[in-house]
Amino acid sequence: MMKIVFATGNKDKLREVREILSGLSCEVISMKEAGVDGDIEENGTTFSENSMIKAKSVAELLKGKNPELAAESIVMADDSGLEIDYLNGEPGIYSARYMGHDTSYTEKNNNLIGRLEGVPDEKRSARFVCAISAVFPNGEAFGTVGKMEGRIGYEISGSNGFGYDPIFFLPEYGKTSAELSEAEKNAISHRGKALREMAALLKEKL
Ligand code: IMP
Repeated sequence: MMKIVFATGNKDKLREVREILSGLSCEVISMKEAGVDGDIEENGTTFSENSMIKAKSVAELLKGKNPELAAESIVMADDSGLEIDYLNGEPGIYSARYMGHDTSYTEKNNNLIGRLEGVPDEKRSARFVCAISAVFPNGEAFGTVGKMEGRIGYEISGSNGFGYDPIFFLPEYGKTSAELSEAEKNAISHRGKALREMAALLKEKL
C-alpha cells in the first residue's frame, strides 16, 4: 500500500487531508511521523511554486532519512493564503508572515479592515487560494489549485476556523467563513477543492 507523507505539522490540516483522501486506500502520515523535520524556505513567487518547493524538499529529506519509506511514499505539501484585490493581491503568499509571525490575527485582521476603510462592497473582493503539490518516488510531480471567492467584511465576526476567516465574508451565505461549521467550510473551501481535485488525479494514477 502506498503511503502519503503530508508536509505539515498542523493537526487540523492533517485531519482534513485524511478525511478527503480516505477513498484512496493510502495511509496518510505527517512529516513528523515520517521522521522528517526542519524549516523549508518558501522562496517561490506563487502558491503553486511554494507548495512544490516544500513537497520536493521533504521528498529529498525523506530519501536521506528513510529510503525504504521514501520508495513507497507520495510526498504532498500545500501552500495557501488570502488575496485581496484592492491591495493588489496582498497579503498573498505572505499571508502567514503578514505583519510578522508573532502578530495576532486580531491585529492582522483589524489592520486589513483599516486598509480598506471607505472602500465599497464591489471593490472588497478577495479569495482564499490553496495549492497542493504531490511528488512520486520516481520524481514525477504535479499540482492542483483551489479557490474560494468572497469579500473582506467591515468587522471581525465569528470564532470558527482560523487566521483570516473572521474577515472573509461570503455574500451567498451572509456570513464569514469563521461563522461556518467545519463541515460547511470544508465543502466549499480552497483547501477542500484543491484536495478533492488531487484525490481524483491520484485515483487515476494509483
Ligand atoms: P500556510 O499554512 O503556510 O499555507 O499559510 C497559510 C496562511 O494563510 C495561514 O497562516 C493563514 O493566515 C492564511 N490562510 C490560509 N487558509 C486559510 C483559511 O482557510 N482561513 C483563514 N486563513 C487562511
